[in-house]
Amino acid sequence: MSLRTADVDPTPTPVSAGDGGALALRCAALVKRYGATLAVDGVDLEVPRGSLTALLGPSGCGKTTVLRMVAGLLPPDGGTIAIHGRTVDGAGASVPPERRNVGLVFQDYALFPHLSVRRNVAYGLRGLDRAGRHQRVEEALALVGLEGYGRRMPTALSGGQQQRVALARALAPRPELILLDEPFSNLDASLRATVREDVRTILREAEQTAVFVTHDQEEALSLADRVAVMERGRIHQVDQPQGLYTRPATRFVAEFVGDADVVPGSRAGRYLVDTPIGRLATAVALTGERLTVVLRPEAVRLRPAGDGQGTVTAIAYFGHDQLVSVVTDDGFELRARRGPHLDLSRGDRVRVDVDGPVVAFEGDGTLGDARD
Ligand SMILES: Nc1ncnc2c1ncn2[C@@H]1O[C@H](COP(=O)(O)OP(=O)(O)OP(=O)(O)O)[C@@H](O)[C@H]1O
Ligand SMILES: [Mg+2]
Repeated sequence: MSLRTADVDPTPTPVSAGDGGALALRCAALVKRYGATLAVDGVDLEVPRGSLTALLGPSGCGKTTVLRMVAGLLPPDGGTIAIHGRTVDGAGASVPPERRNVGLVFQDYALFPHLSVRRNVAYGLRGLDRAGRHQRVEEALALVGLEGYGRRMPTALSGGQQQRVALARALAPRPELILLDEPFSNLDASLRATVREDVRTILREAEQTAVFVTHDQEEALSLADRVAVMERGRIHQVDQPQGLYTRPATRFVAEFVGDADVVPGSRAGRYLVDTPIGRLATAVALTGERLTVVLRPEAVRLRPAGDGQGTVTAIAYFGHDQLVSVVTDDGFELRARRGPHLDLSRGDRVRVDVDGPVVAFEGDGTLGDARD
């Protein structure tokens, strides 16, 4: 069973010093092993109340494992988890899932096919009389825009409607936190965008704290207030979408979030780096001598020039824009995004310039470097 819409926990919630009660979730040094696989490798994650946080990373990086540990479905091998200031794992605590006041929505919705919509939504409600339960079910259905659908069977609903029933079921017990694992991946592309927007609006209107897992960077950037980027069991950066894009903390984040090419650089000043395409200004003060420089295709400018530093190798034309690939004379590949006007062709020599300051990492920009 993949859904847990827990009871309201009757025990009072002591708020630990330091978070001021503003954190819905705090994971510290969270570790999980499956045999020899270190699936989660020291994850620290703080989720402010009322926020919508995305856990973004490639397949197999440990996202579902983190979510399952937070929900109480999987015991951590190390670290602590606190929900609204109450430690639920670690430091001697091990609170069962039904006492965590967490709602879960899974990819396949996990609706009970033999129960009506109303009974699906009522499933996790405890401690209410019949009238109270009925009222809360109707409220939850209204929250997701499904008033009047209570008697339907799940099989008589569209994918997007089933998704909203799963959300209503998770919202009904008023959980402190809702966890959604790849909630949109079951929907076809035409539905996905609208359902995403609907879900965001529903969560906002309910002032519901939520964490959702996705491997889709566009989904994470467009939906979440904060995005935690994860790779191989570790979190590289937690930031607002724009922060991730403009100030990536590691090379992995730079390349996973948006398009990026990297070239080597050497420090030429506090804010200056020498690269195969010339000297560039950097956004932040440089430390170290050997650097990795990130080039975003939309910042790369090309113009035909016999004495340029590179040669056009390919052009992908999309109509509204085009992506022109260039190889520099030193053998580094980079791309430039340009408007629809076709004025370059393969084999052309080009001069490469970059708009605005660039991001540069010390060393090779791996997580180890960023932390050291
Ligand atoms: N029950 C299990 N037994 C052994 N290894 C597991 C188990 N569950 C997950 N793993 C491994 O742990 C790692 C993390 O898995 P997890 O399911 O958390 O990844 P994920 O980020 O959710 O990936 P996806 O985007 O594909 O869902 C992977 O290497 C996976 O193979
Ligand atoms: Mg997963």
